[in-house]
Amino acid sequence: MRVLSGVRPTSLLHIGNYFGAISQWLQMQEKHDCFFFIADLHAITEPTSYGPILADNTLDVAASYIAAGLNPKKCLLYVQSDIPEHTELAWIFSTLIPLGELERMTQYKDLQKKYGSSINAGLLTYPALMAADILIYKANAVPVGEDQQQHVELTRTIARKFNSKFGKVFPEPIAIIAKSGARLKSLTDPSKKMSKSDPSQSYIGIFDAPQVIKEKIMRATTDSGSEIKFDEKNKPAISNLLTIYHLFSQMTVSSIEQKFKGKGYASFKTALADLIIEKLQPLQEKQKQLLKNKEKLVSILNAGTKKARLIAQKTLKEVKRKIGLIV
Ligand code: TYM
Repeated sequence: MRVLSGVRPTSLLHIGNYFGAISQWLQMQEKHDCFFFIADLHAITEPTSYGPILADNTLDVAASYIAAGLNPKKCLLYVQSDIPEHTELAWIFSTLIPLGELERMTQYKDLQKKYGSSINAGLLTYPALMAADILIYKANAVPVGEDQQQHVELTRTIARKFNSKFGKVFPEPIAIIAKSGARLKSLTDPSKKMSKSDPSQSYIGIFDAPQVIKEKIMRATTDSGSEIKFDEKNKPAISNLLTIYHLFSQMTVSSIEQKFKGKGYASFKTALADLIIEKLQPLQEKQKQLLKNKEKLVSILNAGTKKARLIAQKTLKEVKRKIGLIV
């Protein structure tokens, strides 16, 4: 099975990106043919992530991948913009997708509310590029957080449409969604997902300093009452914190409830902050070491690009032949 996924280097990663996506990838690299990349061309759809910041974030994300446990000997790691065939295939796909389908995407509708009529066209055609990222390697499985499921569904539709119009080239990939942690919520508003584009007190960055983690958790919104109980409907904020505790500790939610029975929010939050700090510390340490040798990181990415690009070029040729573009 071929597995593929990526993260946008819009800023440093948060624990939602880690548990929704990367932690799933770690087990997959042991068994499958894996491609993990840094989606820098998707990042520039957000106006905040241009210039030296983008280049730095791209290397930071590469270091995070490796610090988290991705092994370049077991999977391909590369940067999206280093392989121009992705964008060429995205153009071809954009001619197959009705505009209405792109306008119906939840992510696009949410961002349209944020940007109004000044929303850029890249945010509309974002799923065409994402479909190209996936299908150019004929990937079968795409481990992502819940918010990206709709884009993977559209990728399936595009594959089906292309195959029926021009002859079979692509598999229909499926989204792989984690059982827990596929949609961590904002710490300040549990009705929203945790998001890098929101103010930083709403998420825990995987490289936040211990003091910052402590402050963010202690200030996180709680629900009325004082019981530590998982109840997403009536206690969405505490349920989100319990999920985070579960993800970091691997304890079941009911044993966490038991542990904090009668203890109140403050002592639960203190324990949660200590747990997060302890668990993130080795990853943070490793990432710091990796960033001391940027040449090595770049050479790992270049080696990944070299191998991935050969496959991308082959698929693109096959696509062009089917369509009637001269190759
Ligand atoms: P990005 O950078 O927005 O998100 C990266 C991954 O993190 C997941 N995620 C979350 N998971 C749980 N809880 C959250 N609050 C949370 N927020 C984000 C996302 O679902 C994602 O898996 N479009 C992709 C990047 C991309 C891609 C691709 C992924 C570009 N091309 C091809 C797979 C295949 C994205 O949104 O990244």
